[in-house]
Amino acid sequence: MTACIVGWSHGKFGKLDGETSESLIVKAASEAIAHAGIEPRDVDVIYVGNMNGGFVRQEFHSSLALQAHPDLRFKPSTRVENACATGSAAIHMGLNTLAAKKARFVLVVGVEKMTELNSAAAGEVLIKASYVAEESNIEAGFAGIFGKITSAYFQRYGDKSDALAKIAVKAHKNGAKNPFAHFQKEFAYDFCRTPSDKNPFVAGPLKRTDCSPVTDGAAAVILADVSTALGMKQAIAFRAAQHVNDFLPMSRRDIIKFEGPQLAWKQALAEAKLDLLDLSFVESHDCFTSAELIEYEAMGLTAPGEGERAIHEGWVERDGKLPVNVSGGLKAKGHPVGATGVSMHVMSAMQLSGTAPGALQLPKAEVAGVFNMGGAAVANYVSILQPLR
Ligand code: COA
Repeated sequence: MTACIVGWSHGKFGKLDGETSESLIVKAASEAIAHAGIEPRDVDVIYVGNMNGGFVRQEFHSSLALQAHPDLRFKPSTRVENACATGSAAIHMGLNTLAAKKARFVLVVGVEKMTELNSAAAGEVLIKASYVAEESNIEAGFAGIFGKITSAYFQRYGDKSDALAKIAVKAHKNGAKNPFAHFQKEFAYDFCRTPSDKNPFVAGPLKRTDCSPVTDGAAAVILADVSTALGMKQAIAFRAAQHVNDFLPMSRRDIIKFEGPQLAWKQALAEAKLDLLDLSFVESHDCFTSAELIEYEAMGLTAPGEGERAIHEGWVERDGKLPVNVSGGLKAKGHPVGATGVSMHVMSAMQLSGTAPGALQLPKAEVAGVFNMGGAAVANYVSILQPLR
C-alpha cells in the first residue's frame, strides 16, 4: 500500500446555476481539508483536475484552488487533464508525488462546469477527446463515438438494447438513493427501452437514457502517505493504482474489446493480489450504458460478448454478487468530466468508511474497485481501495 485518502468532499452534481468552476473548487477544497482534520497550511501540493477546453472561458484553473484559504498562497498547484479520466489522472499525480516523498499531504480537486453550454455545444468540446484527424466529423459529439462502438458490438454479438435499458434502470434506481446525484429519480424499464419524444435516439442505437448527462460539479480528496495516514481519523488505502493508455485512433484497435481497460484491471488485481469477486463493489465508467456493458467483460466478470448476463442475472445490482455503480454512476450521478474520477474515489471512500448518506450505504463494503476511462477506452485507470485499518 502506497498512500491513503484521509479526507474528502463531494458537492451536489447537476445544473448548478450561479456556481462557477472557481466557486466549486473553493467549496470542494475547503470541505476536504476540514474533513481530513488538517489545516490549509499542512497541504504541500495541489492538483486540480479539469478538462475544460471550452466549457468555460476560464481555462487556467490551478491557482483557483488557492482561493480556498490565504495559507494556500505559494503552494505548488498544477492543472491535470486526461479527458474523462482527468480526475483519476490528478489523483495519480498526487500518488506519484507522495511516492517521491515530495509531500505529506496532497489536495486533489476535480471540477467541471459544463452547463454554460447546451448539449450540442458541449458535444463539440467533448469530441476533442477523440482522434480528431479521423473521428471528429462523427455526428452527435462524443455520443457519436459510443454510438459507433455500440453498433459494432451489436453487429458482432446481436442487439443488446434490452441489457442497455436495464443498465439505465439500475443506474437511476441507485441514483435515487444518492443525494449528490444529478438525477435522483427512478426511470421505468419501458421508458428506457422504447424510443419516444422524451427518449429519442441520440447516436446509433443509443437513446437519451443510454447517455450520461451534461453536468456541473466538483469533488476533492486529501491524500497522505501511509505512515501519516495511520495517525488520521479516517484512512482509505490504495491497495492498487494502475494506469494504462492505449492508442488514440479507434482504427488501430478492436474497439469493442476494451483491451486497455482489461489490462488496467488485470494489473490492478495482480497488484492487490485479489480476484475480481473479492471486491465488495465497483464504481465503473458508464459514460454510456454500452460502456458499462463492455466493461463487465473487460473487468473479467463475463466472457467477451456475454456482458448482458451480468445485468440480466442481477449480478451487478445493489444486492448482487458484484454491485456496479451503486452511486448511480455517471448515468444518474452525472459526468462533470474533470470531477468524475475524484467523485468515484469519494463515493467509494464513503462506502468503505461506512459514511455514505442514508440508504446509499451498502451493508457490506470492504474492498472497492474504481475504473475511470478517458476517451473511448484510451486512458484507463483502476484503483483498488480498502480501509487502512
Ligand atoms: N439521461 C436522461 N435524461 C436526460 C439526459 C440523460 N443523459 N439528458 C437530459 N435529460 C433530460 C433532461 O432532464 C430534460 O428532462 P425534462 O424535459 O423532464 O426537463 C430532457 O431530458 C431534455 O434535456 P436536454 O438537456 O434538452 O436534452 P438534450 O437532448 O439536449 O441532451 C444528451 C441529452 C444525451 C444528448 C446530452 O445529455 C449529452 O450529450 N450527453 C452525453 C455527454 C457526453 O458525451 N459526455 C462525455 C461522455 S465520454
